[in-house]
Amino acid sequence: MALRVGVIGGGQLARMMIAPAVELGIDIRVLAESEGMSAQLAASAVGDYKDIETVRAFVKDVDVVTFDHEHVPQEVLRALVADGVAVHPGPDALRFAQDKLDMRARLAELGVPQPDWARAANASELQAFLDDHGGAAVVKTPRGGYDGKGVRVVRSADDAADWFARTAEGDALLVEELVSFRRELAQQIARRPSGQMVAYPVVETVQRDGVCAEVFAPAPGAGDRLAQMAEVIGRQIADGLGVTGMLAVELFETDDERILVNELAMRPHNSGHWSQDGAVTGQFEQHLRAVADLPLGDPSPRAPYSAMVNILGGPADGSFESRFDIAMTEHPDAKIHTYGKAARPGRKVGHINASGDDLDDVVYTARAAAAHFA
Ligand SMILES: Nc1ncnc2c1ncn2[C@@H]1O[C@H](COP(=O)(O)OP(=O)(O)O)[C@@H](O)[C@H]1O
Ligand SMILES: [Mg+2]
Repeated sequence: MALRVGVIGGGQLARMMIAPAVELGIDIRVLAESEGMSAQLAASAVGDYKDIETVRAFVKDVDVVTFDHEHVPQEVLRALVADGVAVHPGPDALRFAQDKLDMRARLAELGVPQPDWARAANASELQAFLDDHGGAAVVKTPRGGYDGKGVRVVRSADDAADWFARTAEGDALLVEELVSFRRELAQQIARRPSGQMVAYPVVETVQRDGVCAEVFAPAPGAGDRLAQMAEVIGRQIADGLGVTGMLAVELFETDDERILVNELAMRPHNSGHWSQDGAVTGQFEQHLRAVADLPLGDPSPRAPYSAMVNILGGPADGSFESRFDIAMTEHPDAKIHTYGKAARPGRKVGHINASGDDLDDVVYTARAAAAHFA
């Protein structure tokens, strides 16, 4: 019987696991939030991932459970583990991708370099942090944020008044130093339950309005020292937290040449989409291998450079197909990925990958092809 992998969440990350699952002959099943989700093709159930009975019914017929996002509640995850279900990443690791305050505290224990940070339960605690950090800071809601939602630069405690008003008794916001960074990087590691790990090359990520726009792999100009520092940090976190599956470590490269950890994701990540076409083993296949505890694939790049450009928003008329002719004719070397999602301003609806010997060429190709879907 084929190996059965259940994915909770029906977004594009689940969708992009489908192709490598088919290639490997893995039976992939998705618990989607609603009809018509991006991963509809493999949706075997539709329901609420916060409801333990819905999730129990879904996982009954799979060998291992994994995720498209980190929002499944700890109670649900722990109930599955108690039922004897293989859950990867497990709740003890995933909590550090679910809560940025927990993550900061745990990374401090591990001695991983990170921005100055504090727990701010009220305006006066935030003001004290601002006073200590030149009057500027970044405030984050610890849970539920994505694509820059839940992240705000503040210059006075008033700037976060609305978030404090919504913070429950006993909860707090995360406040961080406003890092002066040269650029943002991401380090991906795959780790199996048995402990085997492989590291992808560190990449450069470009965020616009808090949303990933472009990725260059490997990070241009990254010397051995930088690449090794990023890999060591990634391996230390994957091992230290017991991550299973793909781990993405978002990093800042500071103006004074330090590397600081921004945040973690324990699933395939936008910073790794380039690897679908640019690495020997793409991150979606790698994630399936890792959660199924199969030998990991080679993460090496297939070409000196790859570029990934997100399609944000999508065609105004909503039709990708009407753009295929010109995009494919002009850029036969571009790899086009679309997510089956409706066009909406700023939404991630697809991406373009390009690989080759010349960085400028591959960046041009990916940008120019993506522009046809604007
Ligand atoms: N401490 C910081 N200093 C400077 N910029 C930051 C800081 N934290 C986050 N950012 C910027 O905001 C973006 C989104 O923050 P992040 O914590 O990664 O949230 P999300 O979960 O939305 O990705 C980052 O990619 C970075 O560009
Ligand atoms: Mg982020």
